[in-house]
Amino acid sequence: MALSLQAFHTFSLPSQCSQLCEITDLTQLQLLTFDSPFCILGEGSNTVFLSDYQGTVIKMATTGVVIVERDNDYLLEVAAGENWHQLVAYTLKKGMPGLENLALIPGTVGAAPVQNIGAYGVELAKFIEYVEYFDIATKQLIRLSCQQCEFGYRESIFKHQLKNKAVITCVALALPKLWQPELSYGPLQQLESVTAQTVFEQVIKTRNSKLPDPYILANAGSFFKNPIIENQLLSELLVAYPQLPHYYYDEHHHKVAAGWLIEQAGLKGYRIAGIEVHQQQALVLVNHGGSEGSDLIKMIQHIQQQIWQRYQISLQHEVRLMNNDTECHIGLGELA
Ligand code: FAD
Ligand code: EPU
Repeated sequence: MALSLQAFHTFSLPSQCSQLCEITDLTQLQLLTFDSPFCILGEGSNTVFLSDYQGTVIKMATTGVVIVERDNDYLLEVAAGENWHQLVAYTLKKGMPGLENLALIPGTVGAAPVQNIGAYGVELAKFIEYVEYFDIATKQLIRLSCQQCEFGYRESIFKHQLKNKAVITCVALALPKLWQPELSYGPLQQLESVTAQTVFEQVIKTRNSKLPDPYILANAGSFFKNPIIENQLLSELLVAYPQLPHYYYDEHHHKVAAGWLIEQAGLKGYRIAGIEVHQQQALVLVNHGGSEGSDLIKMIQHIQQQIWQRYQISLQHEVRLMNNDTECHIGLGELA
């Protein structure tokens, strides 16, 4: 029987799936056949179902946190279905700081390593001791060290070699007892008293001022990645656009702010059906309702074309897009 997916992804496009299987116990994974199309889902805050999905949605809902105190840190072994922000709040309450810059990021703990969630100068990888996953081919649980996860900016092995092969079951985080605040991001530099709690509160305040609550106004956070461009292109762009925010990436590349590019291209408030470039943060697309996957595709392509024509930068969507039976990518195609 078809089941609506609208409440299962925060962009909330109308869509249905053939079957939804909620995993509350890992033994359930052993019983699944994985022979028809399947999609692993947490809270759907980085996934958009563009149309009806002809397969099984496997929603990870396992819970549990085990804390092991070691000489220099606390090791937290957290089940995939736990909510990320609740975990951050819980660690602070327990006097185990470290995760405060990553407060209020929606979604599950199990999805966090997939794109190596990051915000306000910190990425998840900094704390990863290991990630455990259920290997679909062998039905074994396998542990990867932080290095084996191949983390990068919004990247990990789970988006590449292990895509559709691994169900993350547990994330182990090491939180050092010696706390070192990360205050490089603008609004955090203005803090008068620096404690993990004040950083946590400032991050929440900053996020609430720009990012719409997905449960009030449907959205999937930053829709595009901040592009990483060659230094040569950056130099050329800075002549025309001296204000372009840019950050060192490596010797040959800088990261530039996609939200700035989109805003300067005059696209804030641009609307197709109920989908709009958010007024407070141009990197976020919001869905006011009455929209379909085809409207979103038109919006993505329009933004990509405008940004390519203006800056010769090809924007890649960060959000995972699902069509009727698999993940898909919308790109510039022949334009780039
Ligand atoms: P889902 O959308 O359910 O899944 C995301 C991807 O991970 C899918 O491809 C899915 O197949 C895969 N996946 C999920 N669970 C598992 C599992 N157990 N095993 C294997 N694969 C799995 N992200 C940031 O990095 N930084 C931010 O600051 C940030 N801010 C956001 C703000 C808003 C308002 C919103 C809506 C999103 C934001 N995001 C941010 C994106 C999102 O919160 C993260 O990507 C989050 O980790 C997604 O969690 P989820 O459980 O909702 O994942
Ligand atoms: N900017 C504009 N106009 C806009 C949006 C941004 O000029 O409409 C400028 C800002 O003034 C700032 C720069 O662009 O100079 C960067 O903006 P911001 O600090 O808001 O962050 P971002 O680069 O747009 C990234 C992440 C967010 C994360 C924040 C905070 C990506 C794709 N996005 O956004 O992550 O929370 O930094 O660290 O890397 C997400 O992944 O879903 C997400 C929300």
